[in-house]
Amino acid sequence: MAAFLTNIRYVAWTALAVAVVFLIYFAMGVAGYSFGDSAFWESALRWGHVLSGIMWIGHLYYFNFTQIPNMPKIPEEHRGPAIGKVIAPAALYWFRWGAMLTLITGLLLAINQGYLVQALTLGAADDPAFAVPKHIFIGVGMWLAIVMWFNVWFIIWPNQQKALNIGDRYASLDAAQKAAAGKTAMLFSRTNTFLSVPMLVAMTGASTLF
Ligand code: HEM
Repeated sequence: MAAFLTNIRYVAWTALAVAVVFLIYFAMGVAGYSFGDSAFWESALRWGHVLSGIMWIGHLYYFNFTQIPNMPKIPEEHRGPAIGKVIAPAALYWFRWGAMLTLITGLLLAINQGYLVQALTLGAADDPAFAVPKHIFIGVGMWLAIVMWFNVWFIIWPNQQKALNIGDRYASLDAAQKAAAGKTAMLFSRTNTFLSVPMLVAMTGASTLF
């Protein structure tokens, strides 16, 4: 058992397999849905969306609540390469691909719900006589999350690559340039932490309030 639990690949793949069997057993065996049913895909997508959202926002909160505030407490001579060269690049990998998968599953969920265009246009694509508050509400949440996704891929990740010289592509940058890139990444990461809280009101409330 310890050999299994000490290998994260075994644990992750087995957990995914158990989850899929659980979903299929209840969705098809008990509730009677088939692969062709929209409700089956809705439940599968909601699961995949929340799972990848946890992967993304979990790392965002790790950076903002754990790593960034505590780094200055480690004396300069004890910092070494552990965080900058090993932990942070690994965390950034799961962080940015979690963000990508969250975006893809979120857009698929909106397509599955039949309101992708209505939500992204904040209700403007609806018949004005029948404005649909849910479309405005989830649309605001989707745009907040899309801005966050953009920040991850086009601001935080490129700047972290420079700050930490990931992949040894920025060896020519001096300490001041690295510090400036790190500061930009931090400010956008903090902005995403801020946006994540109202964004989740829309994500979690859309099915409940409307
Ligand atoms: C990146 C862009 C994103 C898009 C396009 C998106 C889109 C959506 C959509 C369309 C729904 C279904 C709402 C409904 O009708 O019930 C939803 C639900 C949800 N989303 Fe997102 N989302 C995004 C990011 C996120 C993030 C970052 C999180 C963080 C964990 C998140 C967490 C959730 C949760 C918890 C639900 C509710 C699931 C449920 O009640 O079954 N989403 N999202």
